[in-house]
Amino acid sequence: MNRGTDPLTVLIIDDEEGIRRSSKRIIDDMGCRTLIAENGSTGLGILQTESVDIVLLGIASANMDGMEALSRIVESYPDTLVIVLCGSATIETAIEAMKNGAYDVIPEPDQLDQLQIAVNRAREKILLTHEARRQKPTKLPTLADLGTEQSRIHTIVDTLPIGLLVTDAQGRVVLTNPMFRRQMQVPETLDLGQPVHRYIQDDGLCRLILDISQGCRAELDDIPDYEFSPGSDTFLMAHGRPVIGDDQECQGAVVTFEDISALKVIDRLKSEFIANVSHELRSPLSTIHEQLAAVLSNMVGQAPSNEEHLISRAKEKTQGLISLIGDLLDLSRIESGAVCEEPKQVSLEELMANIIDFLGPQAAAKGQSLTLLRPSQPLPAIKADPLALESIFGNLITNAIAYTHVKGSIEVRMSRAGSHLQVQVVDNGFGMERRHLERIFDGFYRVKTEKTRYITGTGLGLPIVRGLVDTMGGTVHAESAPGEGSTFTVLLPGDLVPPG
Ligand SMILES: Nc1ncnc2c1ncn2[C@@H]1O[C@H](COP(=O)(O)OP(=O)(O)O)[C@@H](O)[C@H]1O
Ligand SMILES: [Mg+2]
Repeated sequence: MNRGTDPLTVLIIDDEEGIRRSSKRIIDDMGCRTLIAENGSTGLGILQTESVDIVLLGIASANMDGMEALSRIVESYPDTLVIVLCGSATIETAIEAMKNGAYDVIPEPDQLDQLQIAVNRAREKILLTHEARRQKPTKLPTLADLGTEQSRIHTIVDTLPIGLLVTDAQGRVVLTNPMFRRQMQVPETLDLGQPVHRYIQDDGLCRLILDISQGCRAELDDIPDYEFSPGSDTFLMAHGRPVIGDDQECQGAVVTFEDISALKVIDRLKSEFIANVSHELRSPLSTIHEQLAAVLSNMVGQAPSNEEHLISRAKEKTQGLISLIGDLLDLSRIESGAVCEEPKQVSLEELMANIIDFLGPQAAAKGQSLTLLRPSQPLPAIKADPLALESIFGNLITNAIAYTHVKGSIEVRMSRAGSHLQVQVVDNGFGMERRHLERIFDGFYRVKTEKTRYITGTGLGLPIVRGLVDTMGGTVHAESAPGEGSTFTVLLPGDLVPPG
């Protein structure tokens, strides 16, 4: 059989001399090697010793039954293509020849162009077959590579030092790695394909993963990291991302789980250290502050005004330090869980009215309106630590006053939201960009803009707010747009006492 570069070998089997000669001329002109046989049995003899690509077989006139010769060639030399020259044979013979495996049939062999076309077609088919065979050996290693690649990825996923969970668009788990199963103590018997809450006990995290899987969190900046504890002293940080397909459809979520227990210990030690240092600093600073105040009151009108100014600045700075230390101590108390006094029955409306009375002068000094919008129906009392509530709303309203321009307006809106009480502090002040909204609840984070750069603060107010709201089982979140204002919404759950 031809190897693709040699000329093709064509065997002409026909007992008519004229046909043999004219066919040979055409085949020679096509650059092929030609062999000649006068009948079927001679042709079969040649096929035994020669490698033949195409046989031109005259059927009507072969002295061995042409059809039988065809069958034997097809059976014994499957790579050889047989073109049947029908000559005087009937159309039925032609059909039968095709059924018996002829590659092509030429009804009138003396039509030379038909012969040429048929041989060309056969040649193309032979070359294509060669090409396919040549490529096959290179395909096999590709498939083998794929197998190796898959098992390599499998090994990598299995040995990752972090937990890994992949879900489909319905939030069903399609892949986990051994580290994840260890972290979450997933039983061996739990197979893939189950909803995510079968693997993770934390409701908030399950909701987040479901949201990401279903494509509700397409904006990556929107996806918060999620910290939780799956059991005794272990803390994990989950980072989730949607898997977006070529058609921009969300196909599921990839979630990693990082063990942050050691970081938590360091964090606790750091908080304890800050708390101790703050505690040690507070009394000497308070003493300095009192002494400066005493010196200042003795000075009035007696010392040069620049000295008075210096002492007064020093007193202000000490006051700033004292409030920073107060915030740090509050925060470390909240973080250590030792915050709330025994909860009491509190009327939130009364408490808010008192805070607004207290902060009213501060707003008035900036020409701002500060209004309390009460709900149409009186709110039920709430069981909570009133000092914690004062700290939460005191911080939010002080911020609204500080970060709103002169003559701005601040509204405090109270309402019921299902089983929760909702309080919103709404201002039409400076506002801030979306990217700051989660970070302002981190310690010491302050947004620096032209408008806020001269406003003093510690960056600890909102972490205190969030810490206190968390311990009450509530939530706080911010919405804001630069130049339009901000809304801080607090939801407090009701272990609600019906109005008395
Ligand atoms: N109502 C608000 N409008 C605009 N920005 C605000 C508002 N409340 C808080 N912020 C921003 O959040 C930051 C953090 O607030 P906070 O934790 O109370 O610290 P501080 O007020 O001491 O700076 C502020 O520095 C400010 O940039
Ligand atoms: Mg503040």
